Amino acid sequence: MTARNLFLLPGDGIGPEAMAEVRKIIAYMNAEMAGGFTTDEGLVGGSAYDAHGAAISDADMAKAMAADAVLFGAVGGPKWDDVPYEVRPEAGLLRLRKDMELFANLRPAICYPALANASSLKAELVEGLDILIVRELTGGVYFGEPKEIIDLGNGQKRGIDTQVYDTYEIERIAGVAFELARTRGNRVCSMEKRNVMKSGVLWNQVVTATHKAKYSDVQLDHMLADAGGMQLVRAPKQFDVIVTDNLFGDMLSDVAAMLTGSLGMLPSASLGAPDAKTGKRKALYEPVHGSAPDIAGKGIANPIAMIASFAMCLRYSFNLVTEADNLEKAVANVLDKGIRTGDIMADGARQVGTVEMGDAILAEFKALS
Ligand code: NAI
Ligand code: MG
Repeated sequence: MTARNLFLLPGDGIGPEAMAEVRKIIAYMNAEMAGGFTTDEGLVGGSAYDAHGAAISDADMAKAMAADAVLFGAVGGPKWDDVPYEVRPEAGLLRLRKDMELFANLRPAICYPALANASSLKAELVEGLDILIVRELTGGVYFGEPKEIIDLGNGQKRGIDTQVYDTYEIERIAGVAFELARTRGNRVCSMEKRNVMKSGVLWNQVVTATHKAKYSDVQLDHMLADAGGMQLVRAPKQFDVIVTDNLFGDMLSDVAAMLTGSLGMLPSASLGAPDAKTGKRKALYEPVHGSAPDIAGKGIANPIAMIASFAMCLRYSFNLVTEADNLEKAVANVLDKGIRTGDIMADGARQVGTVEMGDAILAEFKALS
């Protein structure tokens, strides 16, 4: 079997604490399940800045580029508030996304039964919820030119951002959404604003053409993005995969996330184009949360977002679907038993720290494997 190369970038704050719990799962899989993972580890963010004055070194960047998948913890914190803009901790993540060309951001919104009552929506609306938002990450209004503030000379200024999408950018993000849909509920809903935006008209046309050419076995629907936002909070379970642009995806994924509870629970993945030779996509997996400086070093961070990110890695980079399912089931079982970190604590539950939560999930994973 070919080795599965993981590059670990724990980062700052609670990043290393959460990563330590994933490392235990990797070790177990290697020892007992022929996981075949090789791991190497690097520095990113403030910890990299402290070591060598950059948010990620060229050597670590090269390792990230060569790995089958990168596991990323979190970066940042008040300690580095005053470092120069180009080497601030976040610059490490931005460079990884840019150099690895990670154009597809995957944000699942899964509601664990035990946490259905923690949602801002009625439990019956979110119980069993399992949707995946595929957000275009490297184009659109966040990057389009011109992008500036100009002085009109009459006491007025004009702020300009430009929404730009080319055919290939829409084709490739739609391709990711359709491929992922085939591994889940086989349905894609594409969201844009074709009623008021030319880029939305093109988005709609290209998604439709891509579907017709290569993915006609997948069910495709279209929704205006504002209506989509409404439907996400009215009846979220109607969706399977949602594909949308950078701006709408930023907002809709945050809305969907909050249907399911705490920041400490939310995983994500970012994928690049398939390699011409091997067909493998470059990939980075990370929790949605940041470095949580307020709780760093206290051993109380919730490691579930990081562990669930590793489950996505098993599923999407290595096609280890049973193992991914079991790891997600292990998380659900632990929550069902009333074992909780502080951020998801509830009446009658038992509060544990990061290590105990990781141990409990690993024990369940072992029992299921
Ligand atoms: P944050 O996500 O770090 O924390 C927000 C709140 O949620 C805090 O009260 C924190 O304690 C809590 N929280 C987050 N993750 C948790 C977990 N796993 N378990 C329990 N509680 C958790 O966001 P914040 O405070 O806005 O940013 C802190 C630092 O992180 C900043 O330097 C920011 O730039 C950076 N950041 C980094 C990100 C990344 O590495 N991708 C993403 C977001 C922020
Ligand atoms: Mg956001």
